[in-house]
Amino acid sequence: MPRGTTLAFIALPLLALSLAYYAQSSSSPLGPAPHLGTGLQLSLALSGFIGYAQAAVQAPFRFKLSEQPAEAVLEADGCDEQGYALAPRPRFTRKIIAVGDIHGDIGNAERILQMAGVVDEDNNWSGNVDVFVQTGDIIDRGDDTIELFNWMEDLREQALAVNGIVLTVLGNHEYMNAIGDWRYVLDSEKKTFEPRGSRLEAVTTGWLAHAWAANYTTAARLPLHGLLGPPNTDYPPPKGSAFARANAGPLSHAAFSFVHGGLAPAYPNLQPFPSAINNLGSSLLRRLMERKPQPQPHPPSSYPGLPAGTTREEARLYGADGPLWYRGWADDDEKKACSKVDEVLAKTGTRRMVMGHTPQFDAIAARCDGKVLIIDTGISHAYGGALSALSIEYTLEPVNGGGWKEQEVVKALYADYDDELLVSSTRDLDGDLW
Ligand SMILES: *[C@@H]1O[C@H](CO)[C@@H](O)[C@H](O)[C@H]1NC(C)=O
Ligand SMILES: *[C@@H]1O[C@H](CO)[C@@H](O)[C@H](O)[C@H]1NC(C)=O
Repeated sequence: MPRGTTLAFIALPLLALSLAYYAQSSSSPLGPAPHLGTGLQLSLALSGFIGYAQAAVQAPFRFKLSEQPAEAVLEADGCDEQGYALAPRPRFTRKIIAVGDIHGDIGNAERILQMAGVVDEDNNWSGNVDVFVQTGDIIDRGDDTIELFNWMEDLREQALAVNGIVLTVLGNHEYMNAIGDWRYVLDSEKKTFEPRGSRLEAVTTGWLAHAWAANYTTAARLPLHGLLGPPNTDYPPPKGSAFARANAGPLSHAAFSFVHGGLAPAYPNLQPFPSAINNLGSSLLRRLMERKPQPQPHPPSSYPGLPAGTTREEARLYGADGPLWYRGWADDDEKKACSKVDEVLAKTGTRRMVMGHTPQFDAIAARCDGKVLIIDTGISHAYGGALSALSIEYTLEPVNGGGWKEQEVVKALYADYDDELLVSSTRDLDGDLW
């Protein structure tokens, strides 16, 4: 049963390419050449455009038209009995690894990222996962602040070069350092900054503060499928947008959220998610950067608190039920917590939420049927907990005769013991994906 829209994706570019080929070969006995006439350029533009939509199906995180070679259009799988090309319905997968609080321990972080396949034995991006997410609290309780944040930026760059993605989320401890709450900073760690100048400058107005402002967010939303948009596409999506159409279809809410503490049901800035939270985070960080002079940190000075001019909403972002500090999903009893989960998932356009912050020393905790995943296992030697990573494998495969089979497999990976299956969820999707 051919579908109008998807049929057009394959039929139109094939038509365009054959016309182009015809135009080209009739003017050149040598056949298609790299320097092409107007006819072919136009057709390539058309197939490139159609390739865009197809690219979203085949490679959910690739959005650049230029990366979509015309040949990809020709890789369709077959024709129906009238000889029309059927919709290309490739199987595709996404592999996501998320790691919680690292707290200044690069040795354990390297073991985990190697174990989970994010990096190779030289700690360079391996290319074997699509997305790596870190949920904050890289700083404090250990000495390796500088190395760890530099490593995150290296991985971000290496990942980008091969269409991988690194998503980094700020924890309460990153904000504490920017604010001047240094209660968990080791003296030995302070010494690691000395050759590079002032630690206070680094975390308030210098290189670290700039990295946090530019490349870290306070919340992240990761659609599992590119039709729902690239990472941090807002939910609800703007009315009339392509992502709104996909969200109205069977892929609706096929996304995960990542924050450091948790998304409290009563927290007022859940929508649009994640930009409402991230805009508040950006403005608070900017306010912190602009303090003149920067207050001396506590201890030994007294706690400087949030800067003058901080809005009520910014203060609440950093409050006990804000995304940086909330512990309800970990600490509330299961019945109470789980009665509120669906409400938060519905508002944030997600199926599951991932968070760190509240250590579960033995194992990653999956609560409420795996809708709540708590991944801080006290990784740093400061805690001596389990060396863990969360693995999410998403698969969408075509079913003969129409529809799709969608699968999410969520596992806890451990450096020192066996993996544990947390969620295996399969659903049948009928009809077009959007
Ligand atoms: C790891 O990446 C760095 C930076 O790109 C590079 O200089 C180094 O050669 C890489 N190491 C290996 C063994 O590939
Ligand atoms: C943010 O990441 C980009 C891409 O890897 C990098 O080029 C840039 O230098 C980073 N910005 C900061 C301030 O670290």
